[in-house]
Amino acid sequence: MSVTVLIGAQWGDEGKGKVSCYLSRKAAITARYSGGHNAGHTVIISGKKFKLHLIPSGVFYEETLALLGNGMVIDPEALFQEIQMLQDSGYPCKNIKISPLAHLIFPFHREIDVLMEKTRGKNAIGTTRKGIGPAYSDKAERSGIRICDLLDKKIFKEKLLSNLQTKRERYPALNGVLNIRHFADFPERYGEKLAPYMSDTSKIIQDALKSKRPVICEGAQGTMLDLDFGTYPFVTSSDVTAGAVATGLGIPPQEIKKVIGITKAYTTRVGAGDFPTEEKGKVGTFLREHGCEYGTTTGRPRRCGWIDGVILKYGKKINGYSGMVVTKLDVLTGLNEIKFCEAYNYQGNILKEFPYNPKIFHEAEPVYRSFKGWGRDIREIKRRRDLPKACQKFLDFLEEFTETPIDLISVGEERDQVIQS
Ligand code: GDP
Ligand code: IMO
Ligand code: MG
Repeated sequence: MSVTVLIGAQWGDEGKGKVSCYLSRKAAITARYSGGHNAGHTVIISGKKFKLHLIPSGVFYEETLALLGNGMVIDPEALFQEIQMLQDSGYPCKNIKISPLAHLIFPFHREIDVLMEKTRGKNAIGTTRKGIGPAYSDKAERSGIRICDLLDKKIFKEKLLSNLQTKRERYPALNGVLNIRHFADFPERYGEKLAPYMSDTSKIIQDALKSKRPVICEGAQGTMLDLDFGTYPFVTSSDVTAGAVATGLGIPPQEIKKVIGITKAYTTRVGAGDFPTEEKGKVGTFLREHGCEYGTTTGRPRRCGWIDGVILKYGKKINGYSGMVVTKLDVLTGLNEIKFCEAYNYQGNILKEFPYNPKIFHEAEPVYRSFKGWGRDIREIKRRRDLPKACQKFLDFLEEFTETPIDLISVGEERDQVIQS
């Protein structure tokens, strides 16, 4: 069986957790390949809400392995809190496997994240302050400390001493924090507990591919937050697009047969950066309140606006969506008019493609196509043809515009509130 990748098609929080959990029911594996606990993936099963940050959403199924790949950055404290939360709810977590090659996030990475945001002043990115950027910086600088290093006290100490020495020179304000005595016991505190979870996750996937059950790769963040293709510098510090699956899990690219772009029926963004279709007035408030648009990880109110077809097409170009999932369609219920951005107007010129020049994107004005709204509650509908006509027209246009079939429509927050399209 082949690999299916779930990619956020916007700026994150598209409902990847819910969709991944729904699709993982029959999967051999669900795997995260990038990011860390900056992600917040919500899954609601029979009224019980779970907020996952590191563990992929297939963890709820005993028969499905939940893999944390080498491309991730892992804060062991956050990981064990999440495992505890799941175990307290009756999920034993014996199906979790972690790549020894994943990099560790230390408390000092969080402190550096906070300090750098302060230093950026009015240009702050609005990071989640979880230490993601500083941990990936260490990885790229080749001074990072990996999960496997926790298994050897001597190696761990040598690497940590060298890492901290450079950091003390670079961040004198953090000298109190950058002391080995705060972290020297990590091998005992976390190494022994992590050892049973450590496994060659790349090999596990290769073996599973010989079976008939699917492998689901659960993206974190979204295409527009990608380090290369997102709205740089207002992005995260990892590659989140489909290409990152191969390097973040150690699987050959040709095994990836399906790439599903997940989009909300509107758009949200947390943190700073341009967002042409943002609605700051009544519509924005409607979407935020009806869609409960508050960050899963930080609780920050999410910025809300209309769906942006230009970025969906851009994401298709980079990720090669073979299908789309539209989530939160129910949130639009009650609006008289629904808008769909089909191009940008830049100084009188109509742009149909996402502009690589950030200055142009900054000044881009959305060009909208207007759709009629609907008033009927759609949350319990199970067939696309039973949706209100106005709703069907909106979906038909989305498919036509992106030239991508909609595979699944999510019409409520519960795992099973979906329409197989
Ligand atoms: P993720 O980061 O992509 O997994 O998304 P988040 O979990 O951060 O944010 C999505 C939010 O929307 C969560 O609160 C979900 O429970 C909720 N959600 C997902 N799909 C739907 C849907 O179709 N309708 C509604 N009303 N809520 C949804
Ligand atoms: P999920 O997986 C939404 C945003 C932050 C900030 C920028 C950089 O739940 O969709 P970072 O802490 O990564 O250095 O922050 O990226 N961001 C997210 N926004 N959903 C996420 O994950 C995000 N992960 C990071 O708000 O703007
Ligand atoms: Mg989220």
